[in-house]
This record gives sequence, C-alpha cells and structure tokens, in this order.
Amino acid sequence: MNNAQSRCAGCQQDSAKPFVELDHIIDLYRNKEGNLIQILHIAQELYGYLSLELQQHIAEALNKPLSEVSGVVTFYSFSTKPRGEHTIRVCLGTACYVRGGKKIVDALQKSLQVDIGETTADGKFTFEVARCIGACGLAPAMMIDDVVYKQVNINKLDAILSRY
Ligand code: FES
Repeated sequence: MNNAQSRCAGCQQDSAKPFVELDHIIDLYRNKEGNLIQILHIAQELYGYLSLELQQHIAEALNKPLSEVSGVVTFYSFSTKPRGEHTIRVCLGTACYVRGGKKIVDALQKSLQVDIGETTADGKFTFEVARCIGACGLAPAMMIDDVVYKQVNINKLDAILSRY
C-alpha cells in the first residue's frame, strides 16, 4: 500500500487537512530527542485527533513501528476519535462524588445520549469525567471547555447546556 492509499479516502480529517502540513513539522523535529510526543501533540492540534491513518503516517515518517506510536498515544491518552465542538468534564473527585457528581454524570449521559468518553451524534459535546478540577469547596463541579460550573445540580443542567 502506498502513502496515498494508506490514507482514509472518505475521512474528513485527512481530506480537510492533508498531512503535508504535519510533514513540515516532522522535518523540523526529526533529529530532536523526545520528538515523538511533541509531534503527536502538534498533530492533535492540527487535526483534532490521532486517527490510525495519522498514527501510521507518523510512524512511517519517523521510521518507527506503529506499535511504538500507538503505545505513546494510548499511554498519554491522546484522542483517537473526532472530538466535539465543546468538552464537558464532570468532576468525580471525592468531594464532588459525595455531593452528587455521579447523579450529574447519569443525567448528562441520559440527556446527551452518550457514554463517558464519547461525542454526541451532532458533534457538539465530548463527554468526560475528571478527578478534581479545583473547586472542591463548591462541589459538585463540572467544566465545559475552560468554564467551571460550581454547585451544579441536575436542575441546572439544561440551562447550562443551552448556553452552548
Ligand atoms: S473533587 Fe471535584 S473539584 Fe475537587
């Protein structure tokens, strides 16, 4: 399989932004120590997530086995699927958990119809949980992108989501 064939023909990610943009970065980092993780971060910035095709492209460009690239992607929890326009993170740290964080998770899963780690069908939200987001005194807390919502309860969720 040549390079063009190895790319996903119907994949929006690849057709919207060809890897040529990343190839320039790979050339810049090629001889630098620890370059793989830096390249992966930049690739995620450029393309939003690290598809298998993209991982394969990076592996070939750096002359490394795909297993090494995939191992780093997994270990550092890079995104391997398209992400939503916004990221919701509900805190399930101890303070938030005991004050109802789990109920918020359940309510959001139901209203957004997603599991943890998934993106809504309309591509609007990626839904995740966090361990502590630094608002323990006003638990339970959640974040949408960089905005922290404190003392959240399930009755406030619709109003919060409607801002997005
Ligand atoms: S435990 Fe939730 S903000 Fe700290």
